[in-house]
Amino acid sequence: MTTSLQDVYRLADFVDTFALGHYARVLSATDRRTGKPVAFKVLRPEHLSPDGDMRWEYRAFPSEADLLGRLAASPSIVKLIDCGYVESSDEAPRTGEIASFGTQVKAFGQAAAEHAQKGWRPYLALEDLPRANNLLYLMKPNQPGTRWRLPSEEGLALATQFAQFLQLAHAQKVVYLDHKLEHVYWDGSRLQIIDLNSSRLLTGQPDDANQYRADLRSLCVGILYPVFTGISAINGALRAQPSSMSEVEARYQNVAQLDFGVEPTLSPALQDLMQRGAAQGFDTAAEFATELQLVAALHGWDAPGADNTAARRQARDQMRAALKKIRQGQDSLRDARDLLRDAAILDEITPDLEDELRRLVKAVNQMLGNRVIP
Ligand SMILES: Nc1ncnc2c1ncn2[C@@H]1O[C@H](COP(=O)(O)OP(=O)(O)O)[C@@H](O)[C@H]1O
Ligand SMILES: [Mg+2]
Repeated sequence: MTTSLQDVYRLADFVDTFALGHYARVLSATDRRTGKPVAFKVLRPEHLSPDGDMRWEYRAFPSEADLLGRLAASPSIVKLIDCGYVESSDEAPRTGEIASFGTQVKAFGQAAAEHAQKGWRPYLALEDLPRANNLLYLMKPNQPGTRWRLPSEEGLALATQFAQFLQLAHAQKVVYLDHKLEHVYWDGSRLQIIDLNSSRLLTGQPDDANQYRADLRSLCVGILYPVFTGISAINGALRAQPSSMSEVEARYQNVAQLDFGVEPTLSPALQDLMQRGAAQGFDTAAEFATELQLVAALHGWDAPGADNTAARRQARDQMRAALKKIRQGQDSLRDARDLLRDAAILDEITPDLEDELRRLVKAVNQMLGNRVIP
């Protein structure tokens, strides 16, 4: 069953450097069997134990594979393509053997202890998501004092998809728990979520109700608040938050009050919704989804029970068309900036050309620094 790693994967660079995780390193790779790109998530070597015991970081991999399988029906969860173990103990494994289990997550879990004994590390090959859609990457300002928020229309769409995801997860008794921007990918219309290794399968105890409420609080505090304000509810400035299991659970516990002072024009109904979530006021994801629809109706959405007028519908349609054009415009500006920047480093250009290219790069970057959408 084992083969040479190099025959199965061609591993390229680390893709996690802007938001390092506690458990894993993640590299971009090509699956040679299909020719398709994957994100190769492998246990950090420092979590191997010299006596071959499985630390909880090790166990998190079979658990994550299992949960990915349970939630695979959701369009919003990253797809698992393959899982297995690698022999190499290098941070970026490039040599040695691999044992690949495909999507046989049960067999992968059963083989964990045996591979831990040999000092092999678990990996997951996941659908490769573009860094340019990672919300932390997009929203983290490169200069102090700047911040970007999603337009309300897009934030409502993201919240709606997240609520649907949590409805499906909670129905499967899974709580997500690790709500933070670096785990969320957004392209303007589609939500994709990564990293279930801090997530948990509940056992049907009376205490489960608290877990579901806390999961909804974490959505409001850890994702929606920064999405609609551009700042973090705990740190102010947005930054990566690598964390272990206990830190994940404690992260948003003390944020019962959200401050919307930086974003005074944000829809009061939306503020109330997030505030209610922060105070653990939603028992179920369905209840949250229903309240969210009422808020969306105020923004021109055709929610059940909304008394939408033709004018409101038209205003929303025009806003959506405009947002699409703004995104296209920003993409064009980035393309232009890249062309200019690449030209500026060509050999043997005159100083006259180089200075002008650099002036334009700077000016376009200033425009991008004032962009409308993160
Ligand atoms: N499927 C993916 N596609 C692209 N990048 C990913 C993918 N999964 C993870 N990453 C990158 O790697 C980082 C760490 O991954 P994560 O799953 O959060 O690991 P950990 O379990 O250690 O927290 C993420 O913040 C993200 O930048
Ligand atoms: Mg993570």
